[in-house]
Amino acid sequence: MLTSKTSASGRGCCSNGSGSSNVGRFVGAVTVRHFRVWTMLQELRENPFSLDDRRAYQAWRGLKLDARPKAVADLIIEVADLAKPTLAERSAIISACRRANMAIFRAASGTDDKSVIRDFGRAFGLDRLDANLYADDDGITALQVSDVERKRDFIPYTNQRLNWHTDGYYNTPDRQIRGLMMFCVRDAAEGGENQLLDHEIAYILLRDAEPRFIEALMHPQAMTIPANCEQGVEIRPAESGPVFAIEPDTGNLHMRYSARTRNIVWRDDPMTLAAVEFLQNLWEEGCDYVYHYRLMPGEGIICNNVLHNRSAFRDDPASGKKRLMYRARYFDRIADTNYSDVCSAPNPPEQLAATDA
Ligand SMILES: [Fe+2]
Repeated sequence: MLTSKTSASGRGCCSNGSGSSNVGRFVGAVTVRHFRVWTMLQELRENPFSLDDRRAYQAWRGLKLDARPKAVADLIIEVADLAKPTLAERSAIISACRRANMAIFRAASGTDDKSVIRDFGRAFGLDRLDANLYADDDGITALQVSDVERKRDFIPYTNQRLNWHTDGYYNTPDRQIRGLMMFCVRDAAEGGENQLLDHEIAYILLRDAEPRFIEALMHPQAMTIPANCEQGVEIRPAESGPVFAIEPDTGNLHMRYSARTRNIVWRDDPMTLAAVEFLQNLWEEGCDYVYHYRLMPGEGIICNNVLHNRSAFRDDPASGKKRLMYRARYFDRIADTNYSDVCSAPNPPEQLAATDA
């Protein structure tokens, strides 16, 4: 088991440099290898996430681990104007998302204008918002400690630790969350750090440990979220589904998961329970693949709904330190970041960004 961690904590702490130049450091030497593997995957017509396709898995796995950004600083891209990211900024962010399913963007100046966040998402193909229970009218949720009684029952609206999860794990199959953005308007006086793990890396760790973990977690009844009832009224029905699923149109890997021990019912099957325990051990022991980052005002995370958590925090409103995050959940995945892209071209050429603008 790997033990050390990649870590950084906000603006000014990434002495390793930042901005698009980080992404440009990606090893060009593997390009020929990428081409060969991509050609092989196309010829095989296999999907690396299928347990039956072992050659495809091994080929994709090797490239994925090679291309993985090793430090959280490698995920940080500076953006001059969030409302209008440049082609180079877009290309750098897409490149990070191809290799890690996530990027951290750092605006030149902070903002509390949600329309700017909306525009930024659209620049990456993130458009179809999930207007969840407490989202504002514009579909973007303002996450902060709330005095509203109904909200206080939900951990995201408290200052408590938020356990590992993917967003919208309780959504129906037709409303799965593929893209996610979190933007820091204000940070707390202390705490509020995120840990992040690419769900494709979690898949690799599980499959390498025991392929039958994957089989169990792909079962359609693997994870059930009981109905959400308030004062005897059901506001969301029970929802069962797999943890891992291969999306039929794209072949991408989708993950729905929560490490919560309450309000989650796992399929009563030894391999399912062993897989859940494996993940729990991973969270407790930590590993090299987990990124640690504390967002500062003007910074955000854009991702393909990777695994993440949040540490507890303390606000100090008197000094203006009252944590406020904007959260946008999308049915869309970030454009040009299919799993196959990491094989064919981990660094998108600028003309790719130009044609998508
Ligand atoms: Fe979340």
